[in-house]
Amino acid sequence: MQFSIKSGRPEKTRSACVVAGVFEPRKLSLPAQLIDAASGGALSELVRRGDMEGKAGSTALLHHVPGTLADRVLLVGLGKEREFHERQFREAIATAVRTVNETGAFDATMTLTELPVRRNDVRWRVRQGAAVALETLYRFDRLKSKKDEVRRPLRKLTFSVSRRNELGPAAEAVAQGEAIGEGVNLARELGNLPGNLCTPADLAGQAAGLARTHRLAIEVLERPALQKLGMNALLSVARGSHQPPRLIVLRHRGAKTGKPVVLVGKGITFDSGGISLKPGAEMDEMKFDMCGAAAVLGTLSACARLKLPVDVIGIIAAAENMPGGGASRPGDVITSMSGQSIEILNTDAEGRLVLCDALSYAARFDPACVVDIATLTGACVIALGHVASGLYGNDDALVRDIQRAGASAFDRVWPMPLWDDYQESLKSNFADMANIGGRPAGSVTAACFLSRFAQKYRWAHLDIAGTAWKSGKEKGATGRPVPLLVHFLIERAGKS
Ligand code: BES
Ligand code: MN
Ligand code: ZN
Repeated sequence: MQFSIKSGRPEKTRSACVVAGVFEPRKLSLPAQLIDAASGGALSELVRRGDMEGKAGSTALLHHVPGTLADRVLLVGLGKEREFHERQFREAIATAVRTVNETGAFDATMTLTELPVRRNDVRWRVRQGAAVALETLYRFDRLKSKKDEVRRPLRKLTFSVSRRNELGPAAEAVAQGEAIGEGVNLARELGNLPGNLCTPADLAGQAAGLARTHRLAIEVLERPALQKLGMNALLSVARGSHQPPRLIVLRHRGAKTGKPVVLVGKGITFDSGGISLKPGAEMDEMKFDMCGAAAVLGTLSACARLKLPVDVIGIIAAAENMPGGGASRPGDVITSMSGQSIEILNTDAEGRLVLCDALSYAARFDPACVVDIATLTGACVIALGHVASGLYGNDDALVRDIQRAGASAFDRVWPMPLWDDYQESLKSNFADMANIGGRPAGSVTAACFLSRFAQKYRWAHLDIAGTAWKSGKEKGATGRPVPLLVHFLIERAGKS
């Protein structure tokens, strides 16, 4: 998709399709009013006759509207003007893009980016517009033998802004939105790949491909190197599988000075639970247990594409959790890279095991901060559902910055407590700690476990178990929290 920006009157726009919004009930948006005036009232007549009430999700496609230079005008219902907020804006863009893509128009001009959305500026609207457009057109069809292709897909999308002096800021924002959308779609593609096609070695191959495309530095540690480092927590998870583990380290060196931001992703390419085997229902969804890793790769690709002036290191702890003969038994005790011993009471709490060694490894980069991203606990889904990711951290300013980035990306997170009262449940009679804390506050105690390996630096943890993918009819990876992470890094680069 090719994006551009323009200012000027919608009725004078030469384009295969102009998209304009209508609020409920029957209220033309400003760009729609301009088209209406030029056409001698064609739109107001349509609205009066009841063909477009302005209900969110509705559309009306008009051909040959007099007085306009566009082949088509697509009216999109926006819902009530007072309720036209971030989510409604995104949904209107998605509806418009989906509809235009099916009409046969190669290019379109979108006037929805001129409409005010609460406290957000034109940059926000254009950034969101580009990202949502790309996310809307994404399909996972590479494993289908027959692909249902659109005959004349949308190729070029122009966002209009209401004033000329908005063209500059909007151009930067469109590049950011494009990078976010592509990063999200990369994360979705990797997440959607099944466990047989996305092993730890495959993930390393994907990272190597990304490194080649964007000239990122990469290092992939295999079993012997992991043994040398004493990463027995990571190794213990991989032992039940025929697939060997990988620790993948990628670096986008956008700044030569200053400490790096380190992103650590959970990359369990399939989580069967191990000897503490999961029940069968929906077990296929545990192919999504590498969505943290996928988000790290999507974020790095966006940073590289934008040439963001920040030093970002991605670390991916990749392994498959299977119940083979070498698998850990409940009760096994291992010693992590940090020297702390862990009693594995439940082999299904494997995410924290691979992450704890990756967090220890992160310290060697003398990081400005470390953010780990993990589909860590079913308990987080119970706590926050599929709306917000769980946010934890040992530094208030970092937690605040991440929450803010999530809000402006519309990729929201909510802070959870890490009080040491919760640490008690990790007590073990046989080792420094157990790898589970019991049923209460399961997402919190998992974060408490990780916190013991992140004491040397500022650290935050995102539990994305409820937000990384959708179940049911729309089953598939969402690409979250790539938008949050890219906003966070743009913000740090002082470029927003
Ligand atoms: N990958 C799962 C967490 C998960 C479960 C995410 C369901 C999304 C949906 C993780 O490895 C896991 O199995 N966690 C256990 C921890 C428990 C054994 C303490 C869980 O949440 O049940
Ligand atoms: Mn598990
Ligand atoms: Zn898992």
